[in-house]
Amino acid sequence: MGQNTLRLGVNIDHVATVRNARGGDNPDPVRAALLAQNAGADGITAHLREDRRHIVDADIDGLMAALRIPLNFEMAATPEMLAIALRHKPHAVCLVPEKREERTTEGGLDVAGNDNALADYIAPLRDAGSRVSMFIGAEKSQVEASHRIGAPVIELHAGAYADAWAEGRWDERDAELAKITEMAAYASGLGLEVHVGHGLTYESVGPIAALPQVKELNIGHFLMGEAMFVGLPAALAEMRRKMDEARNG
Ligand code: PXP
Repeated sequence: MGQNTLRLGVNIDHVATVRNARGGDNPDPVRAALLAQNAGADGITAHLREDRRHIVDADIDGLMAALRIPLNFEMAATPEMLAIALRHKPHAVCLVPEKREERTTEGGLDVAGNDNALADYIAPLRDAGSRVSMFIGAEKSQVEASHRIGAPVIELHAGAYADAWAEGRWDERDAELAKITEMAAYASGLGLEVHVGHGLTYESVGPIAALPQVKELNIGHFLMGEAMFVGLPAALAEMRRKMDEARNG
């Protein structure tokens, strides 16, 4: 893999969403993760929500046992999740805000407003060897706070950019892209590893993939939707192609 290769993390939460709509075992998110792994995913992301609406504890057990590629374990900064993460010691832990009423992770984590508590919270995760990342909006105060508390990685929330793109609000899309561009460069200058995720599609991925400081994209909902029509390996290959095309010009 080249030095500036962009990694693709595949989020499998929505395989579990479909499974849980009926109960039972199908479709199995661990099977989807293994398929993604064989199709060239660089990592798997799974969000164990407090309400277990999609991924459940047994899925994390299964992923930890079966995967050869890194697991990025997404979770809220609660005592329960800390205990689970410390039991599994996944490659990466991504801290996200969580509200019960939301359909998806709507905003970034307020690291700037909780930096003392978060510094204490991430210490044992770092000691356990997990790479801790903060899922934040593209704001200088949040980037600086993430750096201050010693998180090695940030994931910039691409939701506002992706929504503006999807709804044809071009000025807003450009403004959101400019914020992500600026904060990716700023964070990277501070020594943080920069990831981006949320809402990315074949259309919207290019300008983000082109940012040289971005090391990883985490993509789920759109990929799984496409997989229903063309299959997961084909959807993944097409996303990879768009990423590489944007990255390498
Ligand atoms: N990254 C993070 C931190 C997320 O919370 C999510 C959504 O769960 C994603 C990436 C993937 O977003 P999407 O499913 O919209 O591609």
